[in-house]
Amino acid sequence: MKKFEEVFLCPHSEYAVKFDEQKEGFVSENGNFYPMIGGIPVLVDDAASYLWRQYLEINSYVDKRLVESNDLEEKIKSEKLIASSLERINRKISGIENELEDIQSLVNESLVEFYNKHYGEASPMTEYEGGNAPNFVFQYFFYVFRDWYWETGENEKAFEVIKKVMPEDLGRCLVLGSGASRLAYDISKNLNNEFTLATDFNYLFLYMAKKIMRGEEFKLTWLPEHPATLENVKNEYMAPKFENSEKLHFAACDFYENTFQDKSFDTIVVPWFLDVMELKLEDMLKKINRWLKPGGKLIYFGPYSFEKFGEINSYLPKEIGEIAQNCGFALGESHLTEIPYLNDPTNTQSRVEKVLSFVAEKSKEAKIKPMRFNKIKSKLPLWLLHHDESIPNSSLMKQRKGVYDVFSFVYKQIDGKITFDKLSKAFAKEYGMSHSQAKTMLEEHFKKIF
Ligand SMILES: C[S@@+](CC[C@H](N)C(=O)[O-])C[C@H]1O[C@@H](n2cnc3c(N)ncnc32)[C@H](O)[C@@H]1O
Repeated sequence: MKKFEEVFLCPHSEYAVKFDEQKEGFVSENGNFYPMIGGIPVLVDDAASYLWRQYLEINSYVDKRLVESNDLEEKIKSEKLIASSLERINRKISGIENELEDIQSLVNESLVEFYNKHYGEASPMTEYEGGNAPNFVFQYFFYVFRDWYWETGENEKAFEVIKKVMPEDLGRCLVLGSGASRLAYDISKNLNNEFTLATDFNYLFLYMAKKIMRGEEFKLTWLPEHPATLENVKNEYMAPKFENSEKLHFAACDFYENTFQDKSFDTIVVPWFLDVMELKLEDMLKKINRWLKPGGKLIYFGPYSFEKFGEINSYLPKEIGEIAQNCGFALGESHLTEIPYLNDPTNTQSRVEKVLSFVAEKSKEAKIKPMRFNKIKSKLPLWLLHHDESIPNSSLMKQRKGVYDVFSFVYKQIDGKITFDKLSKAFAKEYGMSHSQAKTMLEEHFKKIF
């Protein structure tokens, strides 16, 4: 077993896992399987449905882009445009086509190939209704370009800030929510570490980073919202050349689950991460405390106002420090620095952010429930077996909410008069899809019932 593999747990049962060469994945002591795809372990509960959901989310993004492109085609036919506007819109339309080709080729060689190999062409998740899949995969597409393609100096500045609070030796280092993973790469390449494990919920981002590490060529197209020039309407890039980092490893993991053994890391880095998670800060810090060895270091880097969760969570740095102390950490060096953030050289807009960076040492074990092995070889999640555990607002839950929202809209329209044709038109309008897409989706749904 490689060193970085020793830290993993089965997120479903919390049993230890071992790599199985023949099965090409990890198997837990109670028989759950987690595949290794494209060199990336997928350690997410019910890995098969997770991958299928990622695939459907990507398809849903593709569908939305196609609707956008069709709308533009319609508009240039029906509206009188000056020649240069026409040129710009045509470039955007061809850009969407290129973007989708690039994405589909990456998805085919990773997710689809895996599916055909392990499951044939059948989906393991028949009840997923698709269509309205949330946009988790592409929500942060921007980061791939910022991390690997654009030479704006932003990555270097971020690394300089984080370096100031990093320990001399990172030992076994975990990066949570590493996204496109450039910061994890810079850490593993430039600082003393035994290994750096970059983890994120977005498999495709990790897959792209891994491809860049392997020096494999692939193309990506970037279409900024407010292009600075006609050229910039569509930007096509080939994968850049980066030296491989032997110490950098990747794993697709969901922070809401318990994927790591207690006390397995010397350093845990949370770059621009905790503020996007829908958990109480205390609970997240306790979870991190659990995964750190005694004396291990938490490295915080990012915004400190978690304002999207309301006024109470619009913290000041002092409050974050105090909460960390209550969760078993002793505070070390801390900085507030203004840095450029997500600046796209092809776009007209740019942004500067004041960020907090600090180191905190695990001084006490946080009070958390001990691990509970799910002794029953059950498909049920732990919170359904132990009724006092919180129900994680996982991506599966969000996806189910999305599906129920969609169908609650559909059923509200049924008033005893509406026809299928009118219903599918209303549905298409509400969810920005074509009429034929809406019809297919509704037909499939109703055929399951009747
Ligand atoms: C704001 S981005 C920050 C990305 C990266 N750390 C950076 O600084 O560029 C937040 C990241 O958290 C990831 N993420 C969201 N929910 C997650 C979850 N439940 N488990 C693991 N990662 C998650 C997203 O995929 C995204 O890459």
